[in-house]
Amino acid sequence: MARTPLLMGNWKMYKTVAEARQFAENLGQRSADLVSGIDYVVCAPFTSLHVLRVMLPAQVKIGAQNVYPETEGAYTGEISPPMLVEFGTQYVLAGHSERRTLFAETDELIERKVRAIVEHGMVPVLCVGENLSEKESGKTNDIVAAQVQKGLAGLQADQVAAAVIAYEPVWAIGTGKTATAEDAQVVAKEIRQLVAAQFGETAAASVRILYGGSVKPNNIASFLAQPDIDGGLVGGASLDAASFADMAQAIG
Ligand code: G3H
Repeated sequence: MARTPLLMGNWKMYKTVAEARQFAENLGQRSADLVSGIDYVVCAPFTSLHVLRVMLPAQVKIGAQNVYPETEGAYTGEISPPMLVEFGTQYVLAGHSERRTLFAETDELIERKVRAIVEHGMVPVLCVGENLSEKESGKTNDIVAAQVQKGLAGLQADQVAAAVIAYEPVWAIGTGKTATAEDAQVVAKEIRQLVAAQFGETAAASVRILYGGSVKPNNIASFLAQPDIDGGLVGGASLDAASFADMAQAIG
């Protein structure tokens, strides 16, 4: 089954509204480079979602980096799924390694987030990946498998088919080190086989699997060339509109 490639930026805690507006203007000037047949998403801080939805080229959708899995309530500082939907948000990250490590998010909370994202009609991007010591002790597959199984546990097969899973080895995030495309493919294939076993072949053939970790214009094509890698989840290199457009060109 043909899966649409997905180029997804994750801005993390970067850019004011003014800076986001400038990014949108700059990307607009390169909109001809945003090749058709690819899905484009920018996951921005909540404060910049509105300006991006209004100003980004129409083919670039907006995503959020986090959500709280309740519709409303006394949850100071949190943002609910309906609040994101109101902004036109189409994708939401869940379980990014920075949320798991810096904010102590558990697989149980991440599973609730994934379910809430789906129940409100948005696409969950479940992030999984091993840290350096887990990699060095040969635990990559066990760690990733557990995160995938727990994160998707509340979904039906058709919901998994429409979801996105991002494999991001923690040791490759923001470090300039990448997994080799071949090593990332091995893990992506394992993830797809796991989805097949848990949710069936149709879901496995449809779910999109991204690689993330020091992806840049000069290496993104090597990841997309792998049979089980359908796109990139890009941090640092997504902050610059020219670099975003260059990545689109590289995979187009
Ligand atoms: O969500 C994105 C990842 O954390 C990768 O970040 O491209 O800056 O390494 P990076």
